[in-house]
Amino acid sequence: MNSCIVGLQWGDEGKGKIVDILADNCDIVVRYSGGANAGHTVIVGNDRFALHLLPSGAVRQNIVCVITNAVVVDPETLLKEIETFQQKNITLTDRLLISENAHIVLDYHKIEDQLREESLGKNKLGTTVRGIGPCYADKVGRNHALRMGDLRNLQNLREKLQTIVEYKNKIFEALYNTEPISADTIFKKCKSYADKLLSFTTDTTEFLHKSIADGKSILFEGAQGTLLDIDHGTFPFVTSSNSSALGISAGSGVPVRMIDKFIGVAKAYTTRVGAGPFPTEQDNEIGQYIRDKGGEYGTTTGRPRRCGWFDAVAVSYSVTIGAIDSIALMHLDTLSGLKDVNICKAYKINGKETSFFPANTNKLARVSPVYETIPGWQQDLTDVKDFHDLPNNAQNYICRIEETTGKPVTIIGVGPKRTQTIFR
Ligand code: GDP
Ligand code: IMO
Ligand code: MG
Repeated sequence: MNSCIVGLQWGDEGKGKIVDILADNCDIVVRYSGGANAGHTVIVGNDRFALHLLPSGAVRQNIVCVITNAVVVDPETLLKEIETFQQKNITLTDRLLISENAHIVLDYHKIEDQLREESLGKNKLGTTVRGIGPCYADKVGRNHALRMGDLRNLQNLREKLQTIVEYKNKIFEALYNTEPISADTIFKKCKSYADKLLSFTTDTTEFLHKSIADGKSILFEGAQGTLLDIDHGTFPFVTSSNSSALGISAGSGVPVRMIDKFIGVAKAYTTRVGAGPFPTEQDNEIGQYIRDKGGEYGTTTGRPRRCGWFDAVAVSYSVTIGAIDSIALMHLDTLSGLKDVNICKAYKINGKETSFFPANTNKLARVSPVYETIPGWQQDLTDVKDFHDLPNNAQNYICRIEETTGKPVTIIGVGPKRTQTIFR
């Protein structure tokens, strides 16, 4: 049985926690898109893991972890992550596979990300500056791309680097007047990446199909969220990959019909990091209440997250394009203490109501949310184990989310720990 976990909002929904829990029942966890822009938090006892590239299943020693073709691999971050795991006596030896076709994020991608963002001034996208956009641009452009498999032929790689770095330097110097970067320095780093990472590098598509034929159970771990998808999100305020469920097949080489269960993760409210329209944003004391109570600061960049009410229009869109079967609703505990809670059940645009999310930034920036107000609850939920022990108003809130999104909420998060999870 193969399943997937994808974010239904703008990222940081709590995917790491759910993947960690569900990994208990599977053999392999796969990261299929994005790069070290992701920050997935997993808490095991007193240990807190922030995973950027390793699939969240990595915390379980018996899980095989796979990083497939469409992930852009920042070797420096990956090596640091592997080291952090080693320090906690968790080894990745013989259970980490990295696609030889995954593209490599190098220093010049990060520099370019920073320079491009700065060049936009107040119109910047608010990227994580992890070099994600420039690396995907090189991949699609093809002529300046380097993949993990290129680390196998260092002589060839040195020649390619020379051409790429000369070209990048011309642009950086002409447009931004920056110091030239050195092909030698980057090559030295690549040699060390080759030493440390080639033993993990392989054909992951072959591995995944053999594993499926052997009856292994695979969990696909989405990064970012559906609304950050390059083709179906709120462009240009998105990431550079297909971060929705639509990206699983292209990213991993496993056809969608081989996946049995699609689980979407959403917060009981909405957050967004970086720029872009956000119809239910509460840039006020309610947003601040949620930010403080929910610890809404980025796992990767530490930036404060923008916070707002649950947007059923946006989540329904993600459910529709992802063929989502059920929802894991996280952070219900964070809403405790509010007098009322709101669900956005429609948008008004040009005086007309619509319930279909416009994935077009110009339209989305002009909508106003139509809310349904539900009485809040004051009780602390962090010790609740059963749905029927939740306050009536919290139960009612979940039922309204099910009705407005059309999907059952089968998992409810009431705190960051594994045990703070209600299954229905
Ligand atoms: P991801 O990127 O989707 O994996 O999410 P992040 O890890 O970036 O952000 C989610 C944050 O919420 C992390 O700090 C989690 O430990 C925390 N978290 C997850 N589920 C819950 C929950 O149900 N309640 C609370 N209070 N925190 C949660
Ligand atoms: P996880 O997997 C939240 C956002 C950035 C920015 C936009 C583009 O932890 O949910 P990029 O660096 O990708 O070019 O930035 O996408 N973004 C995320 N927001 N969670 C993430 O990952 C994100 N990854 C990228 O903040 O708005
Ligand atoms: Mg995150």
